[in-house]
Amino acid sequence: MLAAQLTKKRTLFVIPVLAILCVLATASFSRPIHAAPQEVPESAPPVQTPPVPSLVQQGKLIFDYTPQYAPKWTGNTLTCTDCHRLSGTVPYASPMIDISGLFPMYSKRAGHVITLQQRIQECFVRSENGKPLPVNSPEMKSLVAYINSLWTNGVRNKPYKYRGLVRLPELTGNAVRGKAVYTANCAACHQDNGEGIPDAYPPLWGPNSYNDGAGMHNNAKFAAWVQHNMPLQRPGILTPQEAYDVAAYVNSQPRPKFNQAYKTY
Ligand code: HEC
Ligand code: HEC
Repeated sequence: MLAAQLTKKRTLFVIPVLAILCVLATASFSRPIHAAPQEVPESAPPVQTPPVPSLVQQGKLIFDYTPQYAPKWTGNTLTCTDCHRLSGTVPYASPMIDISGLFPMYSKRAGHVITLQQRIQECFVRSENGKPLPVNSPEMKSLVAYINSLWTNGVRNKPYKYRGLVRLPELTGNAVRGKAVYTANCAACHQDNGEGIPDAYPPLWGPNSYNDGAGMHNNAKFAAWVQHNMPLQRPGILTPQEAYDVAAYVNSQPRPKFNQAYKTY
């Protein structure tokens, strides 16, 4: 009897507790799922979204800092602007000015007509010792947009007056004499070991340089580029013969091999 009474008392106590719990639960579930948006106080600063770089700006970044902005497709530390100087604007440093109006054009190396995109791929697989970036990749689209922005004459098939490299007589370089030219005129920046100084002076040979399929590995092209553009502080001081000699020396040094699998044609 005592036990039964106790049980009854407990039941009497438990019922209201359950009821309260039920009310609380219903209350919490019946709250609206989406709280009303809080009003932004008028003094709050406007939300700052960083400006999205245009395709042209993105292309210039890739051109100037190639390994940083196109890491998937580069295999060394060279930027486009290391050779196509000052973002592709320097006369006879193979400038990008007005080349958009020349492509598609016949390529001696390919033996047929190639597009601007294919020409860019060539510099990636040879000068950049990298891979042929796809025509539809964002990097390719940006680079083409940047190069198109330098089409200033707007005329088809009319090359810029200072396109390409200076014309030098055809000579034969001597690597032994070239080493002396190098020590006197180049080593201060590009270093005795040819590897340059990261972010200051680009490498001329070694693992971070252009490969043996690159335009620069052709002594006539190297000599023409260097004669007009180097040494940086006094370009033009080398005679054509000295330019060929230093080309023979630099291009006899070790460097990456062109990967035939990346031939773009
Ligand atoms: C190691 C030097 C070097 C680097 C780095 C380099 N190039 Fe070149 N590029 C050359 C040389 C040399 C030529 C051929 C110039 C000539 O024969 O007149 C050339 C030619 C070109 C041409 C054709 C120019 C014309 O007048 O027809 C394009 C386009 C080009 N490069 C784009 C690029 C891009 C884009 C990059 C960076 C991804 C790049 N290059 C990196 C050396 C380089
Ligand atoms: C005062 C420093 C300095 C000196 C001296 C100098 N260079 Fe350069 N060189 C540079 C810089 C910096 C660049 C990158 C291009 C630019 O910034 O315009 C460069 C780029 C190059 C390039 C193309 C990029 C590459 O790494 O393949 C070649 C080739 C080159 N130099 C060869 C030479 C040769 C040969 C000499 C000597 C005759 C020489 N340089 C002397 C600073 C120098």
